Amino acid sequence: MLNTKNEILNTKYEILNTNWEPKIIAFCCLYCAFAAADLAGAMRLQYPHNIRIIKLPCTGKLDLLHILESFHQGIDGVFIAGCLEGNCHFLEGNLRAKKRVEYAKKLLAEIGIEKERLEMYNLSSAMGGKFAEISKEMVERIKKLGPNPIKMSRYKTTEHTEGIE
Ligand code: FES
Repeated sequence: MLNTKNEILNTKYEILNTNWEPKIIAFCCLYCAFAAADLAGAMRLQYPHNIRIIKLPCTGKLDLLHILESFHQGIDGVFIAGCLEGNCHFLEGNLRAKKRVEYAKKLLAEIGIEKERLEMYNLSSAMGGKFAEISKEMVERIKKLGPNPIKMSRYKTTEHTEGIE
């Protein structure tokens, strides 16, 4: 019976992996990265649909909890995009964000989530092309890493085992 259950689960994982597309959140500063994303759109530069942008007034507003909760909710990758260093409209918001991202990477590694799933970038509002490039790079990186391990462990232990004897 246990073998059958495992076989069904393995098949389900294969199906999941075949159809799987990474979900990525981009926390973007309104003044630079969000404007760059907007510019990429205006320039008709294509970037992957996997990216969901969350606008922030400054990356300094980003809380450690926003990052951790994203992964807890099953998001596969997160990137933070702020102004170029020295150009933050709130002076040091992007430097504070950089420290939080480094700290979050350590916490993620401690709980078994690859720190490469999280990254910080610095952009100016004129870097539409760079925004598209970063988005593609993150999608490729996360595809290589596979689904968020938290999501997979939930998949293995909860709803998808129901009804399987
Ligand atoms: Fe853009 Fe602070 S205003 S990172």
